Amino acid sequence: MRKFSTMQKILVTGGAGYIGSHTVVELINTGFEVVIVDNFSNSTPDSINGIERITGIRPSLHEADCSDIQAMQKLFFEEKNIDGIIHFAALKVVGESVERPLEYYRNNLLSTINMMQMLSEFGGKYMVFSSSCTVYGQPDVLPVTEETPRKLAMSPYGNTKRVGEDIIQDTVKASHGIYAIALRYFNPIGAHPSAEIGELPLGKPDNLVPFITQTAAGIREKLQIFGGDYDSPDGTAIRDYFHVVDLARAHVLALQRMIDGKSKATYEVFNVGAGKGVTVLQVVKAFERVTGVKLNYEIVGRRAGDIEKVWADTSLAQTELGWKALSTLEEALLTAWNWEKRVKGIKN
Ligand code: UD1
Repeated sequence: MRKFSTMQKILVTGGAGYIGSHTVVELINTGFEVVIVDNFSNSTPDSINGIERITGIRPSLHEADCSDIQAMQKLFFEEKNIDGIIHFAALKVVGESVERPLEYYRNNLLSTINMMQMLSEFGGKYMVFSSSCTVYGQPDVLPVTEETPRKLAMSPYGNTKRVGEDIIQDTVKASHGIYAIALRYFNPIGAHPSAEIGELPLGKPDNLVPFITQTAAGIREKLQIFGGDYDSPDGTAIRDYFHVVDLARAHVLALQRMIDGKSKATYEVFNVGAGKGVTVLQVVKAFERVTGVKLNYEIVGRRAGDIEKVWADTSLAQTELGWKALSTLEEALLTAWNWEKRVKGIKN
């Protein structure tokens, strides 16, 4: 990736989190100046140390809540000249969002509104939004392209991503000179190959791969595979897993597209995934193969709100952003395991 001669200053919300921290590393390595805002609701300041160990640079850090407009105004006033925002900060547990909808709507939507307002008020120009394949629901046709109709989400969390996209699109339309790209992620997994940063859920993981690595590390007794009666080769659900470092690169390319004036519209959307559907059992087997660790698992009933299968058509990202996932499932799983071993202090 090319380095910038004129340094652009980018605010990364949720930059201490899982995808955020990996993206900060790629931004710094490409030559961007990075400012992080995080409230550490599902992350720790340790990831900032990891970023510094990998890049040799410690990004400026603000501990604040993106849904707090006054705190955001203070941040933008102090930092001056923020050129763009990559907006990750959000609550993301699907099941929890069903139980606590107002918390999810308040936090995720207010944060997005505030970020768009900050761009307008302080003259920033670029927004990359962390969206999700959840906006497609259970699609009628697979793989999904960006033209696949969005469906009513199955959860308040999913709704916040769908409405978040709309808020950004409408604001960009009404503004002069703001560009935005929404990246619809499929299932990012894995960790930085240095094992300095990775996914560190506080409490019991909801997502598959951290649950697998914690089971392998002996933190969890058994992985429960949710649903064995889906319409798939082995009866378990299908997702499109890809490496988080590949996802981080997609954010940098999206920013570069806007900065270089290559956007075809002021608001654009790209799917980002491996472009391949894999079952839960295939993930488990691949993990066992690549790490040599046997997993204790059982197949149980379906998880409420889960869809059966989804994977991406990523040809638009490939032609327009010059992006595709480069790492294999096995490579991603191995980095996830190396990270877990480091966190747990497992040697071998
Ligand atoms: C979902 C959303 C995604 C969102 C993410 C946030 C969809 C299609 N995806 O991801 O947009 O960003 O939540 O957390 O709505 N599984 C098990 N056992 C476990 C954990 C998971 O069998 O202990 C299975 C799930 O049932 C699913 C697969 O593993 O079939 C992946 O689950 P997970 O990692 O939680 O991601 P999604 O539910 O796909």
